Amino acid sequence: MERLICLVMGYVFGLFQTGYLYSRSKHMDIRNYGSGNSGSTNVLRVMGKKAGLVVFLGDAGKMILACLLTRVIFRSQPESLYLYLLYTGFGVILGHNFPFYMGFKGGKGIAASAGLLVSTDWRLMLICLVVFVMAVAITRYVSLGSILVMICFAIGMIYFGLIRRDYGLADSCQTEFAGIALAISLMGIWRHHTNIRRLLNGTENKLGAKKNA
Ligand code: G3P
Repeated sequence: MERLICLVMGYVFGLFQTGYLYSRSKHMDIRNYGSGNSGSTNVLRVMGKKAGLVVFLGDAGKMILACLLTRVIFRSQPESLYLYLLYTGFGVILGHNFPFYMGFKGGKGIAASAGLLVSTDWRLMLICLVVFVMAVAITRYVSLGSILVMICFAIGMIYFGLIRRDYGLADSCQTEFAGIALAISLMGIWRHHTNIRRLLNGTENKLGAKKNA
């Protein structure tokens, strides 16, 4: 029951589509421009830096709020709290990526995943930030940075949660925790399948290069 509460609550938070709503407030639909994605990278590409920052903060912020609520609701269950945080995180990402009121056509969940890192482990957040900044600085491909972050996310969660056992998880939660961490990671990578195709054939958009639909 707790897992279902986290997933549903997360999905509801994830429905707040900052990029789509911001673009509608400017009388456009961001999904018709650039890469067609409603996330902060495409908003940055099409609408500029301020808009990109607002959308990133909004999408990361909804995850942070959902995780704060999870901490309050399940504060009496420390041995499964981090498992529930990942369920909430997965729910937010599902709501963000597949919003029912937008025909299930949403974003890729990277800013939301950044919010999940802020809400769970600042060490892993810093590692992912360094990996992302280095990947983007070297290649100018935001998508490559995002994919590498999602790989680091799963490895880091398993390392800190299961090997170092820093999250205080009960033995009975361990396999499930690894499974949901992997699910979040694979979802993020899978949502980049068109980017991966473009990266492989050399047509992916580079940061700073404008592109219309
Ligand atoms: O966070 C999304 C980013 O990794 C890729 O965005 O618009 O280039 O598909 P986009």
